Amino acid sequence: MTTSTTFASVSALVRRETSMVYDEGKEYLVEARLNPLAAARGLGLEEYVARLALDAEERRKVIDALTINETSWFRDHTPYQAFTEAMVPALLERRAAARRLRIWSAACSSGQEAYSIAMLLDQHLPAGWSYEIVATDISTAMLDRVRAGRYSQVEVNRGLPATSLVRYFTREGRDWEIAERLRQRVTVKHLNLAAPYAGLGTFDVVWLRNVLIYFDATTKADILRRMLPMVADDGYLLLGSSETTLDMPADLAAAWQREQIGRVPTYRRAPVRTFLSGPTPPTGTTSPSLTSPSLTSTGA
Ligand SMILES: C[S@@+](CC[C@H](N)C(=O)[O-])C[C@H]1O[C@@H](n2cnc3c(N)ncnc32)[C@H](O)[C@@H]1O
Repeated sequence: MTTSTTFASVSALVRRETSMVYDEGKEYLVEARLNPLAAARGLGLEEYVARLALDAEERRKVIDALTINETSWFRDHTPYQAFTEAMVPALLERRAAARRLRIWSAACSSGQEAYSIAMLLDQHLPAGWSYEIVATDISTAMLDRVRAGRYSQVEVNRGLPATSLVRYFTREGRDWEIAERLRQRVTVKHLNLAAPYAGLGTFDVVWLRNVLIYFDATTKADILRRMLPMVADDGYLLLGSSETTLDMPADLAAAWQREQIGRVPTYRRAPVRTFLSGPTPPTGTTSPSLTSPSLTSTGA
């Protein structure tokens, strides 16, 4: 059994390094996931946790072990339908001069989201167009998996249509490997969503799905604020099916205009407005910049 001190120490470490909230009640998860790491070092859990402060490599393993990486191909289906039926056709018109799309899979886990998008772009972009998908996550173990592009039979059984399996994968032993031409389109980067997003550029569509649920309201608001300049003026933000901007401070909720595409809520940057009458953003959040819409309005 974990002592409360050990659990509090792990919970603080996870909070500090990822901003994820590990509340009391998750002791079983900490034990199940960290006991094997402790055993591999020949230590009991408490001694192992006590030594983490001095061992960055072991802390990285702990973060890898405690992130929740649940994902599947074409997860929830409807966002992918909205992507191909509405967003891509609109972007084909708006980007006719550049003929290039940039997509961000912002908590990509083992890569099913990024590669699902790649398969759709492979099918729906006309000849002469190119695209880049930037796949980021805080877990280095997950990023290695995205780079490898290799999936077990159990994993491909979760949401991947048989036609896509045949078209885009080859059998490698007991696993399936994604086609090299799709892998080349995916740029893999380590990124903590709770830290600055320097040097990423802007994106036509940001997929920020099923990750905000792990953060507290302040971190979630901070991330949504810093996402504003990451999405092109005419681009889209997609959240998970249980995630929304509606529970955010009014100025932030208004800065993300909700636009329903079929059954899928998408979020677009509200038009730029004047800063003159706006409230001061809460302490600890990013100030509105000239590249982001004003956060002053209370109605979209
Ligand atoms: C449940 S998965 C979601 C995967 C995918 N977006 C989907 O919807 O299927 C959540 C991912 O968020 C990542 N994550 C957790 N905290 C993070 C942070 N602070 N920065 C970046 N990624 C984080 C985890 O490592 C995990 O891979």
